[in-house]
Amino acid sequence: MTSNSNHQKSIIVALDYAKESDALNFVAQCDPTLCRLKVGKELFTLAGPGFVKKIVNLGFDVFLDLKFHDIPNTVAAACRAAADLGVWMINVHASGGVTMMEKALNSLESYSTSRPKLIAVTVLTSLSQEDLLQLGMKESLEQQVLRLATLTQRSGLDGVVCSAREASLLRAQLGREFLLVTPGIRLDASAQDDQVRVVTPKDAIQLGSNYLVIGRPITQSKDPILTLQSIYSTLNTL
Ligand code: C5P
Repeated sequence: MTSNSNHQKSIIVALDYAKESDALNFVAQCDPTLCRLKVGKELFTLAGPGFVKKIVNLGFDVFLDLKFHDIPNTVAAACRAAADLGVWMINVHASGGVTMMEKALNSLESYSTSRPKLIAVTVLTSLSQEDLLQLGMKESLEQQVLRLATLTQRSGLDGVVCSAREASLLRAQLGREFLLVTPGIRLDASAQDDQVRVVTPKDAIQLGSNYLVIGRPITQSKDPILTLQSIYSTLNTL
């Protein structure tokens, strides 16, 4: 089962399952040529590095989404430990600061061509402008995202996680090469779950996103693989 689209493998399925067996059940139906897989905090805490290695060995590009945020030394060591699992992408919080991001990147130097892509989280897509105000951040949400993304680029990282709603601004400001990875995707813009800033897959790509992180709309659908394929069909019309 493959996707022939130009957008092949632009979907990263978030394996947010509460049981390893459910995640493996999804993976068994899937194909590394169809999508990439994201392992987040829930599944990693539950199933650990062994699970990650298992799906890496099956040939999947794995985004290990642990959003490291700590002192530079700890984050750098955690990034190396993640790289040793053979994953394709890892991330840190940009709000950890430039020194932390630079140290994380430097810690991966010896991996040369097998270095995982290192990206940073700007503002979580579950946060609204009001939430930022509550946290004492007075800039507009867009300005805050742009500030953190600019610091990320200056630190030499490959890209950021952001809402697709900010993608066109970031694309215009940060150039074509900077990776934009966008969660908060909903097939129907009226469905939100706990995401505040949602966008459809087609709009996200049109706004400049490189990779779409999609969890519940795929994993909780009746037929996840069919849903995945139908998303690629909508992207093929672009
Ligand atoms: O189910 P849903 O499509 O909302 O899943 C989105 C995934 O992307 C979740 O695994 C979530 O942790 C992750 N994510 C996010 N917002 C960010 C970074 C990651 O929603 N800024």
